[in-house]
Amino acid sequence: MKDSGPLPVVRDTARLRGAVSAWRSETRTIGLVPTMGALHEGHLSLVRAAKTQCERVVASLFVNPKQFAPHEDFERYPRDEVGDAALLAAAGCDLLFAPDRAAMYPNGFSTNVIVTQVSTPLEGEFRPHFFGGVATVVTKLLLQCMPDAALFGEKDYQQLLVIKRLARDLDIPVRIVGCPTVREHDGLAMSSRNAYLSAHERRIAGRLNVVLHEAIKAIRSGASIAEAEAEATRHLGAAGFTHVDYVAVRDADTLTPVADLEHPARILAAAWLGKTRLIDNMAV
Ligand code: PAJ
Repeated sequence: MKDSGPLPVVRDTARLRGAVSAWRSETRTIGLVPTMGALHEGHLSLVRAAKTQCERVVASLFVNPKQFAPHEDFERYPRDEVGDAALLAAAGCDLLFAPDRAAMYPNGFSTNVIVTQVSTPLEGEFRPHFFGGVATVVTKLLLQCMPDAALFGEKDYQQLLVIKRLARDLDIPVRIVGCPTVREHDGLAMSSRNAYLSAHERRIAGRLNVVLHEAIKAIRSGASIAEAEAEATRHLGAAGFTHVDYVAVRDADTLTPVADLEHPARILAAAWLGKTRLIDNMAV
């Protein structure tokens, strides 16, 4: 492991571009890992993967107000830049880009990036503001840093598809790389929001991935997709989830509904434990 001395931090685009162009002049390849901080092993796995694919790795830390609705958790979202910087340095990150709100969205900012189709169902239905905010900030991050590759987790599967789409549609010359979901011992997908869970909720949370595995098994042994979705929703309720937004088996590329498994499919779910909303997904 590289020694984890203090990680250089830049807070504006000019300095970020300065650092990146210095590396470019040494013909180094550059990987970008966008985050909202409160880092865990899921984020760090992206940094390590970036380090295997690129010679220099930039992580960004920006809790993006545009992707939170007014009633959501922007204010209480966990923030720990000093802790995050230490974890990033230990994972091999070379530079932290941590702009403040005014650097990212200066007065008069009025452009929004809207991806249609793949952002419409599922998360798009339950968090209608969300992908506009994500697409706008990720487009900015890609253009600010101009990396060779940008890495994202399959944990946020629909987000990954939206970002692949926008990079293609806007001719942004970057490779968008999806990386596997990192899980806790009981299979719960790691998430900064898991910190909101009480001990009781945390135990229930571990059922989400199990129920999705069971649904996949049922489909593979002949259950219809509609039956498996309904059964999984019932099981989540029985396990103690307070509300289920969706359990859906969808085409893995387009997220349109599927009736059979002729094309690669994905099972995706979002469910609430009190005030905390958890998402997960797996290949079917
Ligand atoms: P954040 O939730 O901080 O996640 C940053 C990156 O880490 C995303 O690509 C996400 O998919 C990935 N990630 C989170 N949990 C993971 C896990 N358990 N295993 C693997 N990867 C995981 O996603 C965002 O931030 C934002 O929407 C962002 C893309 C930064 C735009 O603001």
